[in-house]
Amino acid sequence: MALAVEAEQLVKQFTGRTGTVDAVRGVDLRVAEGEVFGFLGPNGAGKSTTVRMLTTLTTITSGSARVAGVDVGADPDAARRGIGVALQEAGLDGRQTGRELLVLQARMFGISALDAAARAQELLELVDLVESADRRIKGYSGGMKRRLDLASALVHRPKVLFLDEPTTGLDPASRLVVWDELRRINAEGTTVFLTTQYLEEADQLCNRLAIIDGGVIVREGTPAELKSEVRQRRGLDHDPTLDEVFLDVTGRSRERVAGQVQEVR
Ligand SMILES: Nc1ncnc2c1ncn2[C@@H]1O[C@H](COP(=O)(O)OP(=O)(O)O)[C@@H](O)[C@H]1O
Ligand SMILES: [Mg+2]
Repeated sequence: MALAVEAEQLVKQFTGRTGTVDAVRGVDLRVAEGEVFGFLGPNGAGKSTTVRMLTTLTTITSGSARVAGVDVGADPDAARRGIGVALQEAGLDGRQTGRELLVLQARMFGISALDAAARAQELLELVDLVESADRRIKGYSGGMKRRLDLASALVHRPKVLFLDEPTTGLDPASRLVVWDELRRINAEGTTVFLTTQYLEEADQLCNRLAIIDGGVIVREGTPAELKSEVRQRRGLDHDPTLDEVFLDVTGRSRERVAGQVQEVR
């Protein structure tokens, strides 16, 4: 089975005047081509830092990662051609129209003017923004901006799409629209690597997921596997929700992290 994302013992330390932060402490990942993979964890768990390492946006302290078959540390330029990324803070220029933004993005990837116009139209259709395509972005709703950002990450037809909390801050209806886009994008063959704080979202969208806490992966599997593990271990008479799995898993790992902090003292 071909792997879209493969990471071994990824580590990220931030060193500043106040000392060293161990943001990611040895993460292994294997995501198959065609999967929607969920990367879950509480605030500060290390999700964004992991995504930034996998997408060449920050250096890797130690360990290695391959995305779409390319070693991101050894050949970041080649890796970037296979990667689309939409970060938590969408950096859109409000003065442009949605269409202008997509055309410009395509031109930056070396696509001809004619093909860029066609690609922009295709993507506007994919994310349902045709009617607003020629309006300035500053008038878009939060959900529309998020969908445009999604489209702009897809301009160069990446093999793997990374999304960092694509629905945080969206109202429930807009969230459902984004889910729909993601399913469509995945159905067209793109592997999706998604971070989220919403367990319902992971349950709905993801084939497999990993839960990260304190910079380490504390659980990994399909949503059904994770639920059945907690059900059996705790002797429940029903399947827990993914929320319950999350609390069970992160609650335990937090105790362990706290234990380590105490040891240091
Ligand atoms: N640029 C940075 N400098 C120092 N510490 C950072 C930096 N970016 C993130 N961190 C720290 O690394 C940890 C993981 O952060 P992050 O990856 O953003 O978590 P998440 O995305 O899961 O909320 C946190 O403790 C955060 O404060
Ligand atoms: Mg984050």
